Formats: sequence, structure tokens, C-alpha cells
Amino acid sequence: MVAQTPASKDANLGRIVGHILLSPVTIDGAPHIAVLGLAPMAVQPEVQRQGIGTALVAASLERCRALGIQVVVVLGHPAYCPRFGFQPARRFGLSSDYDVPADAFMALELTPGALDSTTGVAHYHAAFRSL
Ligand SMILES: CC(C)(COP(=O)(O)OP(=O)(O)OC[C@H]1O[C@@H](n2cnc3c(N)ncnc32)[C@H](O)[C@@H]1OP(=O)(O)O)[C@@H](O)C(=O)NCCC(=O)NCCS
Repeated sequence: MVAQTPASKDANLGRIVGHILLSPVTIDGAPHIAVLGLAPMAVQPEVQRQGIGTALVAASLERCRALGIQVVVVLGHPAYCPRFGFQPARRFGLSSDYDVPADAFMALELTPGALDSTTGVAHYHAAFRSL
């Protein structure tokens, strides 16, 4: 998914100013839970802090809900992602297969209770890991 400024004759408008990607994630012992990992996302520096990142995340989560995704995880900024409802994944008993600070790995239950009886390591798809 990309964010684009409105089309116009102005060369600076109608260009891509941000992007977001989600890819499949599998939780050890819980292959039935539909999980996506949100990353990477970025907004062009000159247009940051204008709500584009928020719009990208909101649109992505809406699409995930429509597709029946139950959980979204993110390796992100602990000061940024909670505004979208992400919580430290360890609260759900989840850890990441990436060696990152625990606070940076967060999870959001789109289906409340989806992670209730689950603990384990969340594995990103091989295609994502090869990026
Ligand atoms: C993170 C990022 C996508 C946010 O995009 P954006 O369009 O500026 O986001 P928004 O305008 O919707 O939100 C801006 C808010 O996010 C906050 N924010 C941005 N980066 C942050 C960070 N690393 N930590 C904490 N807060 C952050 C800003 O302070 C601002 O807060 P405010 O609303 O209280 O003023 C953008 O800063 C970026 O591309 N950063 C570099 C790449 C990156 O870090 N990607 C995320 C990890 S994959």
C-alpha cells in the first residue's frame, strides 16, 4: 500500500510519499491464527508529521479486518505504535524471532482474545526475512 499526494499538473503532487507493507507471520504451535507483520513503513522526510503514517496504518488495519486477519504484530517504535492499539507482545506471551529489544515487538488483537491461549515465538515469512 502506498500513500500518494492528489494528482495534479504540479510535478510535486501525485507522487508516492509513503509506503507500508504487511507480510505473513506464523506463531509457533498456533498456525491457525491469522497473523500479519506490519513492516516496513516509511514516509518521505519532507512530508512527515502530516498524518500520512497514521493514514497508512489505519487503512492497513481496516484492510486486515476486512480480510479476517486476527492479529497484527510490529517491530517498531515503542513510542509510536501504541497510538494504534499495539501493546508489548510479551503481554500476550509472544516473542519475536528477531533479536530486538522486547519493547519494540508489539501486537494488536484485531479479534479480541485471539492470543488468549497462545504463547510462543512469532516467525516472519522467509520472503520478509530475505529483504
Ligand atoms: C514513523 C513514520 C512512518 C511516521 O510517519 P508520519 O507521516 O510522520 O506520521 P504521522 O504524521 O501520522 O504521525 C506523526 C507522529 O508520530 C510521531 N513519531 C514519528 N516517528 C516517531 C518515533 N520514531 N518515535 C515516536 N514517535 C514518532 C511524531 O512525533 C508525531 O507525533 P505527534 O502526532 O504527537 O506530533 C515516519 O516518521 C518515518 O518514515 N520514519 C522513518 C522510518 C521508520 O522509522 N519507520 C517505522 C519503522 S518500520
